[in-house]
Amino acid sequence: MPYGSRLTAEMTRRLGRECLYVPSARLALYLALRRWCRPGVRVLMSPVNDDVILFVVLAAGLRPVQAPVSVWDGNIDPAAVPESTWRNVEAVLTTNLYGVPDRVVQLRRRCDQLGIPLFEDAAHAIGTRVAGQPIGTFGKAAAFSLSKHVAGMAGGFLAVEDTGTRRELERLRDELLVPGRLRGDLATTLRPLARSAVLGLRLVRPVWRTMQRLGLLERDTFRMELHPRRLADCARRAPSLPAYEPWVRVDLHGFRERHGSLVRGQLKLRMDRLDGALARRSVGVSLLASTAWAGGALRERTAEDGPLPLFRVPLLVQDRDALLDRLVDHGMVCGYVYDPPLDDYAGAEFVEPSPDPSAARWFASHTLPVDPLLAHKVVRALTKERVRPASPEARHLRDPRRDRDVPQAPPAPCC
Ligand SMILES: Cc1ncc(COP(=O)(O)O)c(C=O)c1O
Repeated sequence: MPYGSRLTAEMTRRLGRECLYVPSARLALYLALRRWCRPGVRVLMSPVNDDVILFVVLAAGLRPVQAPVSVWDGNIDPAAVPESTWRNVEAVLTTNLYGVPDRVVQLRRRCDQLGIPLFEDAAHAIGTRVAGQPIGTFGKAAAFSLSKHVAGMAGGFLAVEDTGTRRELERLRDELLVPGRLRGDLATTLRPLARSAVLGLRLVRPVWRTMQRLGLLERDTFRMELHPRRLADCARRAPSLPAYEPWVRVDLHGFRERHGSLVRGQLKLRMDRLDGALARRSVGVSLLASTAWAGGALRERTAEDGPLPLFRVPLLVQDRDALLDRLVDHGMVCGYVYDPPLDDYAGAEFVEPSPDPSAARWFASHTLPVDPLLAHKVVRALTKERVRPASPEARHLRDPRRDRDVPQAPPAPCC
């Protein structure tokens, strides 16, 4: 039986696309970029993104081109990308930030016109649909992360269009996987259980504070240390996953370890409960979208189409950084803060800056990504802390409805 076949069968059933199992979404993205982009290709991507993904793009030997984003959701704003940029990019990578869909129909149309591949990062968006069509079925390839929605802290998929491509990518994956170890598999299996115990026993605050004091957290700030000199040295070895491993592995050291049946069995059990988890997320999104901290786009989308089963809900708040620290005392650690935007973080040596970084800066510095499964707790804490909502400045404001992607017709099959 092919590696991870029970998991991939389930994912293929959900998505209606060929899938291969991978230990992480970052490895899935690396495989896709290596398969379709020759070294040196310029890839359009959102600067409001996990820094790990920037390093995946660099490891694949590509040049990350930062796009202007919508101030409402931090995703690429295709209409604001200058024509000169469109003419100079050879691939597009979406983010579907926190599960809010990118403008995939517009992006797909544009990519088709230009004859370039669209890659969907669906790590946050396993249950998201656009006009009934699942995110992850619009582009050439899509990466999913089981660390996110099913809290597996490992595992993922790469979804592609046909069996031949899947087989080819399985061979590439097998070359990049490193052998698993029982110790690693045990740790991967026990970590989510330990996290649930910490949450259930209301130990988030003491555990987090102790880890902070002992220096056990991998990141001191929202972004990992860049180490620009070492990074510049690596460019000579790109494309190379091992060269960039010190950056790419942050938050998930086993990102290319071959999982044994213990890990895969546990992930399968979690995937079997995915629909229930997504339904609970939608309930939380519905509550959070009705609060003053929800941005206009989230409120309107929820009112018109019903709540999406988001991975995180991007609330817009004032004094976000101080609030994050105070929320630990309420038993909440909010991760997935992508501030500053990647062009401010890495600089022009490593990325091509966005022609208009202001919306990304505003969004990144005011967003509080909260877990919809904790919606009631979040509302209680923000009310108690008298948190003030934030609104984008007038120069960023566009009608959020204009930002929506409403497909007129199903997209044509990818070229
Ligand atoms: C937007 C985004 N894409 C991809 C990933 C990578 O997922 P994984 O941890 O499964 O490699 C992350 C990780 O947090 C992410 O936030």
